[in-house]
Formats: sequence, structure tokens, C-alpha cells
Amino acid sequence: MAIAMTTGYSAQTEGARLCIDAASDWALTCVEQLPHQNHHVLIDYGAADGGTAVGLWNQVLDHLHTQQPNAHLTLIGNDLPSNDNIALAANLALQIPRPPKPTVLVSARSFYEPSVAPNSVSFGFSATAMHWLSESPGPLHNHTHVLASGDADAMQRFTAQALKDWTAILELRSRELQPGGRLLTVNLSRDSEGRYLGHNGGETRNVHDELHRIWRGLADEEVISEEQYRNGTILNFYKSPEEFMAPLKDASSAPYRNGLRLVDERTVHVRCPYRQRWNTDGDTAAFATGLMATIRSWSRHSFANAAGDAAADAVYQRLEQRIAEAPSDWSLDYVEHHQMMEKLA
Ligand SMILES: C[S@@+](CC[C@H](N)C(=O)[O-])C[C@H]1O[C@@H](n2cnc3c(N)ncnc32)[C@H](O)[C@@H]1O
Repeated sequence: MAIAMTTGYSAQTEGARLCIDAASDWALTCVEQLPHQNHHVLIDYGAADGGTAVGLWNQVLDHLHTQQPNAHLTLIGNDLPSNDNIALAANLALQIPRPPKPTVLVSARSFYEPSVAPNSVSFGFSATAMHWLSESPGPLHNHTHVLASGDADAMQRFTAQALKDWTAILELRSRELQPGGRLLTVNLSRDSEGRYLGHNGGETRNVHDELHRIWRGLADEEVISEEQYRNGTILNFYKSPEEFMAPLKDASSAPYRNGLRLVDERTVHVRCPYRQRWNTDGDTAAFATGLMATIRSWSRHSFANAAGDAAADAVYQRLEQRIAEAPSDWSLDYVEHHQMMEKLA
């Protein structure tokens, strides 16, 4: 199934940029600890159009240049071939004028494949991307997102797939990191109270339940078939901190055997910027449009792949209307897990 963010990704995802900004302290720590050498390769896995990370890479490149003024720096932006890689190339190119005039490259491949040569990456980074599964663990019968489904069997299947995928991602990264290299992942997650993106413990409505309600409504009205309804699964998974750390605590796992080690981890909550703005300006129309667009940016492909563009468009038209009708019931709060790792020197 093709995954693709909607075009204009970074303009529609203020929250994702705030999540990246919240990890910038650890990104700077990572590059500070790199061994001194004459060349460093830095890579951003699942970068989308690269716009949300421009500020982060400004800081990281400047910091590394200050620490190691003689080192040449190469920044690679990675995303799927279906991504807007022209926009990604343009956003990476914004870094070229700053000393030491880094080389910038686009890698239009899946992060479930090797991206670069073994032992070549000094600093790997990824934000809000590695929750997408590599394949379907089977259908959901009563929901569009497994975490909101209450389906224990599906939860088991999705957890197993998510752990298999995460171990495979870490194995690939552990091969391409150079000894002494650092990896920082910033991923959508579940916290100790079971909260996750769009589910803030009941303060406001569960966004995944609302998306499902609209999708179920389209099936009940026979706008989509029952088969299309069942195919409308959002194929991602928000792991717990324990699940993120599991391959690094298992001495027999492939990433561990390749020398990848856990340095630190934390869970960070980022409040919905659209809701925060509505709290002060009360502009309901702008809130409904902005919040709908940010939810659409990551969920649209799931509905369009299942039932076509017109059905997907109907979802977001109804979503915007629902937000506008009861704005105080809505917010898209982020729960993100930060995991700092190193490859043994
Ligand atoms: C929500 S966006 C995050 C973009 C950016 N990192 C940020 O934090 O704003 C998720 C990105 O992950 C990409 N992605 C999903 N699966 C991928 C894969 N297997 N390989 C590379 N990129 C992938 C999507 O195409 C999308 O651009």
C-alpha cells in the first residue's frame, strides 16, 4: 500500500515541527559526542518534504561545524519514492549556504531497506515516521485504528508486526551507523497511561474514534462498500517505551549484536498547536480547517487507497464540519518517545 503525506506537508503540520523542536537538545548532544574526523554523514529518515526539520538541521550543522570546523558535512534526506522528493531536495538545499557548505542528497527509498554503505553514518535521525508498518498484520473488523479498536486479537497481531518492523529498522540502522555513531529516534508512542496521538485520556474526543465514526457512517449510507470499510485501516502502531527499548535490551537481537546500544530515552507530550491558538483567538473556522488538514496529512492515504479519492474527501469534509460544530471537544495532542542510541566504537 502506498503511503504518502498530502502535498504541502510541512505547511499543514505545525505539531510535527514542535515535536522535532522538542528533540533538538538531544540531537545537539548526539553530534557533540561524535569522534573527530574529516567527514560526517547525517541522515533524516522519513523526512517528508523536509520543511519541519529545517530549523533542527540548521542547529545541528552549525553545532557540529563549531565543534569540528575542518570536517566536511553531508546531509541526506530520506523518504519513500512516492514522497514529494522535489520539495525535500529544495528544503535540504536551504542548508547549502551555511559553513562548511554541506553536501545535500535525497535518498528516495524505504527505511525498511539499506540506505547507505555500512559503517558510513555519523548521526541518524528520524521524527514521527517509523510508526508505519511494513505490511498489514491482517484486517480490523470494527475500527480504523487498532489502538482504539478494543480488539485484543488485532492488538496482538499489530504488536507483533510492529516489534518485527522496529527490530528490522534498528538492524538496518545499526549496520549503516559507523562505530561511535549516534541514532536519535522521535516516534509517536503510547505513554504509561495509554495516551497516544489523538487520545489524551478523555480531555477531548479520541480523534481515531471520530475518524472511524465517519468511515462507519459512509458504509452505513452505502457510500462505500463493507469491503472498502474493512480495508480502511490506518496501518501504523504507537509503541510503548518498553516496546521501543526491547531490541536494545535483548543481547540476542540483530541490532544489539551489531553493537547498537541504548543511551537514554524519554516520553514527551506536545500540545495541539491548533487547539492552543483557538483557546486564545476563538477563531473556530480557522481551527476546524487547520486541525482537519493536519489529521488529513497522515490519514488520507489509508482511506483513499481503500475506497478512492471521493470517499476520502468526504471523510475530511465531515471531519471539518464536526470540529466546527463542537470545537472545545477537539485537540490533536502528541505523545512522542525519544530514544538516543550509539553504536559501540
Ligand atoms: C508524519 S511524516 C513525518 C515527516 C517529518 N519527519 C516530520 O517529523 O515532520 C511521516 C513520513 O514518513 C514517511 N515514511 C513512511 N514510511 C516510510 C518508509 N518505509 N520509508 C521512508 N519513509 C517513510 C512518509 O512518507 C512521511 O513522509
